[in-house]
Amino acid sequence: MIRVEEINNYNENDIKIMNRLDALPQDFWDFKACDTSELVHGIHSYPAMMIYPISRNILQILTDVRKFDTLLDPFSGSGTVLVEAMLMGINSIYGNDLNPLARLIAKVKTTLVNTEHLQKNKTEVLKNIDKEYIKYSKIINKIDNYIINEKQLDITEKKGWGDNAHNYIQEFLNKNDVYINIPNFKNLGFWFRPKVILELQIIKNEILKIENNDIKDMFLIAFSETIRLVSNKRNGEFKMYRMPPEKIQKFSPDVKNTFKKILLRNIEKEIEFSKKVKNKSTHITITNNDAKFLEDIPNNSIDLIITSPPYGDSKTTVAYGEFSRLSLQWLELFGTTEESIRSIDKSLMGGIKQRNINENVIHSKTFNESFDKILKIDEKRAYDVYSFYYDLEKIIETLSHKVKENSYQFWVVGNRTVKQQNLKTDIIIREISKHYNIQYLCTIDRNILNKVMPSRNSPTNISGKTVTTIVNEHIVVLKK
Ligand SMILES: C[S@@+](CC[C@H](N)C(=O)[O-])C[C@H]1O[C@@H](n2cnc3c(N)ncnc32)[C@H](O)[C@@H]1O
Repeated sequence: MIRVEEINNYNENDIKIMNRLDALPQDFWDFKACDTSELVHGIHSYPAMMIYPISRNILQILTDVRKFDTLLDPFSGSGTVLVEAMLMGINSIYGNDLNPLARLIAKVKTTLVNTEHLQKNKTEVLKNIDKEYIKYSKIINKIDNYIINEKQLDITEKKGWGDNAHNYIQEFLNKNDVYINIPNFKNLGFWFRPKVILELQIIKNEILKIENNDIKDMFLIAFSETIRLVSNKRNGEFKMYRMPPEKIQKFSPDVKNTFKKILLRNIEKEIEFSKKVKNKSTHITITNNDAKFLEDIPNNSIDLIITSPPYGDSKTTVAYGEFSRLSLQWLELFGTTEESIRSIDKSLMGGIKQRNINENVIHSKTFNESFDKILKIDEKRAYDVYSFYYDLEKIIETLSHKVKENSYQFWVVGNRTVKQQNLKTDIIIREISKHYNIQYLCTIDRNILNKVMPSRNSPTNISGKTVTTIVNEHIVVLKK
């Protein structure tokens, strides 16, 4: 069942697509029993991932109707849509995201590597890591005792160990005549125990020796996932919440085996995926543009957009940058400085606060009505909300130039509530798109059963008071 609310001039293909969508049962898009980690989808976690059956089914339905050569996901995150487009044999696939960790995950997922080389590297790197562990076994086993008992440092404290871990470990290594290059980022010790830091660096050094960059990136992704699991971060949280001190004191993660397990799992997934990709010459481009501009995507080039934008600004919804911080600090990817890592969330949708509100900028009656109501209750929150939809308007405008005639757009969105005002993003997207001559076709409503994201937060900012914000999503279908 789909929602169609406007009378439009549909062409034959539009009607075919809408009929196909309309014939599906009400709960078709809920995907109750789906293994969200199938194939390469499961190589690294990422907040608010789109579950793959959404894009797989959209692509299946569309490609049955006609051929699509180019696809774009302007908010590609960890690359779910890109992977599915590869499986469907789309020729030219564009992803885009401002978060460097998201781009690395998406790049690894969509890069087919030579299986033989991969297996050879795996055997070699794991063997070398074992050797290094034996070589450094004495210092690995001594370091926690040195920091905690000899230096009398409380490893759960932010001051002392927490903000000076690099120097303490370096001092320990110097005393033992060992040279290992320890990372030096802010609050390293706050997030990692001494032994864990040493072990992570030993593993990282072996990964960096891999010559083939695509294979090296694959190993780095397994390393990044390991970082999350062996850090003092609370399990299952996307936000930077730390375990309580008593838990950190007892925490003793098996760093080497965690890495090994993830790597072997990922390699298996990669091999399985590459067997399923029929069109091996698909061209994948993942750009680092603000979706407001998309300067690296040619105008009038895209046949199909499938995307899920953030639900709101990073501060009050999902903090993609915060989630990625520890990985990025360890990975030291090209161009990522401490400052740039810390400012990712500010660069995402709604991150730059608009303070001059011009009523004529956002072409959506629905938005303007909600905005007026929030403004009466809380001016600051109203401005925050305005900033997000201001960016959305610019993005829709930019996309209207990137797409070809007869192209389709599928926007998977959630409507969140701010100050008791339900912000109907699905309708706002339709209204803004109309202003840029993008035609509305229909909306599919789906229940969220699998998406990993907080369904409750505290938009009222009253501590302890939570309201359920998003339990269903809408897939808005548009056409040029
Ligand atoms: C809901 S997530 C996408 C998840 C993705 N579909 C997946 O399966 O992993 C939204 C993404 O939009 C990115 N993003 C937010 N604002 C952006 C902007 N202005 N330009 C480019 N990317 C942006 C975030 O970094 C985040 O990765």
